[in-house]
Amino acid sequence: MRRGVLARWASRLPLTEKTPLLTLGEGDTPLVAAPSLARDVGCAELWLKFEGQNPTGSFKDRGMVVAVAKALEAGLRSAVCASTGNTSASAAAYCAAAGIACNVVVPEGKVALGKMAQAVAHGARIVVLRGNFDAALVRVREVAARRGIALLNSVNPHRIEGQKTAAFEVAEALGRAPDVLALPVGNAGNITAYWRGFTELGGQRPVLLGFQAAGAAPLVSGSPVARPDCCGSPGSRRTSAAGSWSPFSPDTGSRIRSPPSTRRLAQVPSWTTTRPRWRQRSHEILHRPRAVLDVEPRRRLRRDRHRALRP
Ligand SMILES: Cc1ncc(COP(=O)(O)O)c(C=O)c1O
Repeated sequence: MRRGVLARWASRLPLTEKTPLLTLGEGDTPLVAAPSLARDVGCAELWLKFEGQNPTGSFKDRGMVVAVAKALEAGLRSAVCASTGNTSASAAAYCAAAGIACNVVVPEGKVALGKMAQAVAHGARIVVLRGNFDAALVRVREVAARRGIALLNSVNPHRIEGQKTAAFEVAEALGRAPDVLALPVGNAGNITAYWRGFTELGGQRPVLLGFQAAGAAPLVSGSPVARPDCCGSPGSRRTSAAGSWSPFSPDTGSRIRSPPSTRRLAQVPSWTTTRPRWRQRSHEILHRPRAVLDVEPRRRLRRDRHRALRP
């Protein structure tokens, strides 16, 4: 059984006696050998860290469990995040587990429906905003500061703390840090977290290779992108831009001001899947700008809280 990130890595996380050991069974994901891919790429060994095995299907769960547990510890009853996909699914699931109300602000027409369906299923309140992700992030930062509610985007330092545990697991499985680690990059929260994890372990750190979707590659180009285009839709194919990485602070602005030094281009596919019913529901919500919706939040919160909180 998976112990969860908080219990497993307690000594390396900013926990106190009062931090509730919230878990949905995140972390401890497999490191899968990929010999054919290794041959294609031309390296001796290649491993895939299968973060899709986290409870909501992405690495976000590692950081989200810490951020939501710390929000609970601080006595907060409400949280907010801006998201175009995985963050909303993760925030909604962990808030439901903790009994915290979750608000998700999404940029109109710029979301991965499959992921938004998860947020809806977990009872999050979805607010659709005209503008891009950055506008949504500005808005949620204001709201969180003004109302004193938890901000669950990766500007929350607890997110980065939780996500660094993936580096611990990789090093543990291999017996040392890998020579190279390649990652998809959005706001560079995850790559920052891996870097921190390997740095805290000491010893040799890997070269980090970051890949951004070509339509949303501010860290590669070195300047903000006004109309980003990076949301996966079923069967769509998109390009990505890549660069080798140096460490970033967990703040989007400073990441954008510190672009990677080298650049090259690669083609990668993206896709998303989900259950048709929730997908249809998300579709309806997201085509109503500024809509706010609650889906059975109370009943779901009570049930999930009972299941997920351990003494
Ligand atoms: C599957 C996946 N990969 C990569 C990223 C980018 O992560 P970050 O914004 O931490 O760089 C995201 C962020 O939404 C994601 O959901």
